[in-house]
Amino acid sequence: MNAKVAAILAKKGKSPVSELTAYDYPTARLLDEAGIDMLLVGDSLGMTMLGYPDTTHVTMEHMLHHAEAVARGAKNALVICDMPIHSFDTPEQAVANAKRLMATGVDAVKLEGGVDKEDCIRAITEAGIPVQGHIGLLPQKVLEEGGYHMKGKTDEEAAAIMADMEAVVRAGAFSLVIECTKKSVAEAVTRACPVITIGIGAGHGTCDGEVLVFHDLMGLSPWFVPGFVTPKATLGADIMRAAREYAAELKLPE
Ligand code: KIV
Repeated sequence: MNAKVAAILAKKGKSPVSELTAYDYPTARLLDEAGIDMLLVGDSLGMTMLGYPDTTHVTMEHMLHHAEAVARGAKNALVICDMPIHSFDTPEQAVANAKRLMATGVDAVKLEGGVDKEDCIRAITEAGIPVQGHIGLLPQKVLEEGGYHMKGKTDEEAAAIMADMEAVVRAGAFSLVIECTKKSVAEAVTRACPVITIGIGAGHGTCDGEVLVFHDLMGLSPWFVPGFVTPKATLGADIMRAAREYAAELKLPE
């Protein structure tokens, strides 16, 4: 097994796993030097870096471009690259695209889906590529579901999320993201899950680790902060202040 993946798996039940998104070289290098365990080249880059309204506009070419930069910036962190919408519609396509993403130098790929994507995940892991699954709220389904809605509110939904976890684990994933589920569902899934669960919007301390979008944590897109995030920095405000200061200090020749 890949040494970085083994080191992450060894943290199960011992110490929390930290994951943050990174989309470029300087951010990857800073987060890596800060000791963040896993860096995710998330397809959230469609919004944070490219200004699209959601992740359904993101292509393989976008992901390849950003993955290369992040891979160059990270030495110790395990770098995971998201598979964009329609890049894993069949197992054959999933393997071919996972190989293209891995060729950028990342360590693993992530893809959304559970029972419905078991065959794609298995095909990728059987090709020797580590996979992080993603269950609960699936942002790539935002258009078909008419928005972002918390998952696991009914017993039926909670059971479906548990079945998704089981499918992802059966298919050989080393980790899975649990997004925006009820706290109790994330806790139950984590208790039952032999691999690393990573929560987002699913309650604090409910999973083996947590992931956040870098821009949300650092206050870099102050026009949108999800309710479950407490920003730890004010980079957006700092940039505006510094830009104003710079412009105010300019001088014309005497
Ligand atoms: O794309 C992304 O940033 C993600 C995280 C929200 C888990 O998938």
